[in-house]
Amino acid sequence: MGLLNRLVESSTLISRNAEADVYLVDGFLGRPAILKIRVPKGYRDERLDRRLRQMRSYREAVILHRLRDRGLPVPMLYFASLRDGVLIMEYIEGIALAQALSRLELEDAVRYFSILGGVARGMHGAGVIHGDLNLNNILVRDGDLWLIDFGLSYWSDSPKDMAIDLDSLRRSLDSTVPSLAERLFEEFLNSYREGNNYYDEVLRFYSRLRRMGRYYAER
Ligand SMILES: Nc1ncnc2c1ncn2[C@@H]1O[C@H](COP(=O)(O)OP(=O)(O)O)[C@@H](O)[C@H]1O
Ligand SMILES: [Mg+2]
Repeated sequence: MGLLNRLVESSTLISRNAEADVYLVDGFLGRPAILKIRVPKGYRDERLDRRLRQMRSYREAVILHRLRDRGLPVPMLYFASLRDGVLIMEYIEGIALAQALSRLELEDAVRYFSILGGVARGMHGAGVIHGDLNLNNILVRDGDLWLIDFGLSYWSDSPKDMAIDLDSLRRSLDSTVPSLAERLFEEFLNSYREGNNYYDEVLRFYSRLRRMGRYYAER
């Protein structure tokens, strides 16, 4: 871990939560980069903890690689040490869509959701469920958009699982910009639908999740 330790020491912590620490490395092979490290959790059995960290880092690495390979807008993976639970990836110089929405013109917001619909379709078509699709895991800058945070992602080609991504995006919209949620989600669906063989089934499951959500919200 000598090299990694040195890298971490010369980096800035930008996010820390239950799952991972995220650092901004100011020069990795001369470029700004993001270092994501899953740190040991004292409350879990040590061996189980290590396996969980390795598995999640592995999944995130493979999925990032696969999506990037397919031309989808995700950070390029620069380096992975699965044993240490460490990923180093391209630094995306953007801001979270959640934050951007408060200052965007409606027209620009609509454009982002149209792009997002196509990206989500491509991701699901590649057999990947994001697992935590919300407005904080979407970064934007100057009309471009990236998906990040594949720590809870998994492989699936089931419309039920795809619907879960749609539902979590919609919930995030509802809580961030309630007055625009309907309009923006509609735009998202319009482009998610294009040439998407799964669309009808995904929507069926999505509607079911929405009804369940409302049922529980009203109780
Ligand atoms: N590739 C990246 N480029 C720029 N910022 C990033 C990148 N990856 C993560 N971040 C920043 O770090 C935060 C946390 O990273 P994330 O991958 O979402 O992990 P988690 O939410 O599981 O802690 C993100 O919300 C974002 O602000
Ligand atoms: Mg996140």
